[in-house]
Amino acid sequence: MSTEASSPSRHILLLFAHPSQARSEVNSVLFNAAKKHTAVTAVDLYAEYPDFNISIEREQQRLLEHDVIIFQFPMYWYSTPALLKEWQDLVLEYGFAYGKGGDALKGKQFLCAVSAGGREEAYQTDGFNHFTLRQLLQPLEQMASITQLTFLAPFALFGSRTAKEEHRITLHSAVWTKLLDSLAQDTLDITKARQLENLTRYFDEQDLHK
Ligand SMILES: Cc1cc2nc3c(=O)[nH]c(=O)nc-3n(C[C@H](O)[C@H](O)[C@H](O)COP(=O)(O)O)c2cc1C
Repeated sequence: MSTEASSPSRHILLLFAHPSQARSEVNSVLFNAAKKHTAVTAVDLYAEYPDFNISIEREQQRLLEHDVIIFQFPMYWYSTPALLKEWQDLVLEYGFAYGKGGDALKGKQFLCAVSAGGREEAYQTDGFNHFTLRQLLQPLEQMASITQLTFLAPFALFGSRTAKEEHRITLHSAVWTKLLDSLAQDTLDITKARQLENLTRYFDEQDLHK
């Protein structure tokens, strides 16, 4: 883990959307870890826009200034919390993010850091939720395609509501920091990172101790 790394080559914009952070056990830990990372601009969207009055200009400027964009959110009704949808609806304008002259996001990397209350077994074709998490995130994958962002696999924690009592958050947070390091230093194997179902599988146990 290196939050004190030599100056990072790339800048990461973390857009965090959680409507009830006071009760958060998982995302608050990841968000606080990210805030300490030198390469990360950590934005708490619900704190910044409690009335959903999003500044399109400010958000577009932030996008221009970063190389990697991360949406961090708890899965709510198989999708993002409402403010993150509002953010997409307003900020990803024609002529900026897509359409004629809309190349602002071209070549930047994009991923979702998601927590889901359901267990991984439930997120299978023959499971309780009928679809995998990656399948459920396809609207975001297609958003990335239209806006010329490079979509990476989601970084997902399942069974999030029991993660604390099952002592799974510390390891997840360590993998998260490792991921942020790799994104900042541009050392990820992008082909592999695009193909996985879950980016948590990118690193093996040995990597985490390096
Ligand atoms: C309104 C609402 C909708 C939710 N919808 C889903 C869902 O569709 N799928 C799922 O796996 N969990 C769902 N959950 C559970 C959350 O994903 C879970 O509480 C969250 O990931 C825990 O993260 P936190 O500790 O940071 O709050 C929902 C929770 C709420 C409050």
